[in-house]
Amino acid sequence: MTAAKTLILVFHPALARSKANAALATAAAALPDIDVVDMQALYPDGVVDADREVTRLLAADRIVLQFPIYWYSTPPLLKAWQDAVLTRMYYIAYETEGRRLEGTPIMVAATAGNQPEAYSPTGRNLFPLETLLSPLQATAYRCGLPWASPFLVYRSGALTDAERAEAAELYAARIEDWRCEMPGRPVVTREMETA
Ligand SMILES: Cc1cc2nc3c(=O)[nH]c(=O)nc-3n(C[C@H](O)[C@H](O)[C@H](O)COP(=O)(O)O)c2cc1C
Repeated sequence: MTAAKTLILVFHPALARSKANAALATAAAALPDIDVVDMQALYPDGVVDADREVTRLLAADRIVLQFPIYWYSTPPLLKAWQDAVLTRMYYIAYETEGRRLEGTPIMVAATAGNQPEAYSPTGRNLFPLETLLSPLQATAYRCGLPWASPFLVYRSGALTDAERAEAAELYAARIEDWRCEMPGRPVVTREMETA
């Protein structure tokens, strides 16, 4: 049996040009039992292969959705992924797919260009970033995926190299802590089901 994996789905429109998300993804990829997937590279036209992504989710024992904040929300590919993959799992094939994903812990890791103070009732962006991410939290709740508090990086475009490296280190440490604190979903492979 292969070790269950923490799956990090990175939704960045051009990871090769990214600084913040690239640093986070590189630090996370160095951890054991991690799969980091550049979703934009797989689906440059925005059409997500639901078969492939359902299989990927069901093989993971926990999931991270990593992305830059664009207009107080996610890049469009993450919404396309939700529409293609979660709709199928929970509305079309609940018994064989959605039910099996339930109990998989999920964490959001997001980078924002603005500073923390902007994300407050007296700041430019009015709402805390955690509040702006509440549609994803509601989605996780609906899908039975235990929610971890998001890992957030502010001032992502203004970080010095040292600050970016520190953020990446904190990200890797946060994933390690999460894996200790919150047990992952036991992964049952097709081979085990038919044994
Ligand atoms: C189209 C677009 C919309 C953006 N909207 C926001 C926003 O709503 N709030 C914010 O703090 N930063 C916003 N930003 C800044 C990005 O979050 C920032 O460039 C990104 O986190 C940097 O990460 P990277 O180095 O991985 O590309 C936006 C950037 C772009 C290109």
